Amino acid sequence: MHALGVDIGGTGIKAAPVDVATGKLLAERTKVDTPRPATPKAVAAVVTELAKSFSWSGPVGITFPGVVTDGTTRTAANVDPTWIGLDARTLLAEATGLHVSILNDADAAGMAEMAFGAGKGEAGTVVLLTFGTGIGSALFIDGVLVPNTEFGHIEIRGKDAEKRASGLARELHDLSWGKWAGHVDEYLKHMEALLSPALFIIGGGISKKSDKFVPLLTDIRARIVPAAMLNDAGIVGAAMHAHPEETGYKRGDGNETASA
Ligand code: BGC
Repeated sequence: MHALGVDIGGTGIKAAPVDVATGKLLAERTKVDTPRPATPKAVAAVVTELAKSFSWSGPVGITFPGVVTDGTTRTAANVDPTWIGLDARTLLAEATGLHVSILNDADAAGMAEMAFGAGKGEAGTVVLLTFGTGIGSALFIDGVLVPNTEFGHIEIRGKDAEKRASGLARELHDLSWGKWAGHVDEYLKHMEALLSPALFIIGGGISKKSDKFVPLLTDIRARIVPAAMLNDAGIVGAAMHAHPEETGYKRGDGNETASA
């Protein structure tokens, strides 16, 4: 069973066809810069172009960097605020003319990692965190996703955590790996105090560079591992979400598919 996975991020939009039974990409992924401003119309045009570039006519799973319930985008920390309250699933289904499902980006990455990657077979509490433009979170209890957790926005030292510890914060403030690892460490300690997970999975673009900061983290009881699928996890999870019956994914977010 195949689906096109599209991962909408604050900086790039990536897509590839995926075999949802194996989690493997069926073609090399394509990446386009996220339009600025990242309005629904501009993003829908990019998603349509990407689907066309793969001559795609099957189902499409799409991630969004904000809360998504019932196909409606509810927050927009790193994209245009006009996404808030929008029926994005219908907009994207109409733009592409295809069956579309949509979910939070970190939830998608988490689903893929639990099925095929670093979280495979893990019971108990697992937290995947992506450190990219924002901080994304996905919480699993015995493999079942609790959607839309938004742990990137817990407050640390009077600030949104992602303003201090995201990958973008490292770049914007020109932080050394050591200094930034200190911010991530503080953040993980907060997360551990709240949730006591058995495992943290570090996802997003930064997972490729985990050797630069994971060894610098201190006194965290949970195991900490990089995402096995690196930055492709969002694409794979998006595609899985388009085929929940095939992948055993239990949706708690009402994010069913819509078609044009
Ligand atoms: C958003 C999350 C998203 C994360 C990563 C945060 O700012 O609120 O929904 O998962 O960024 O893109």
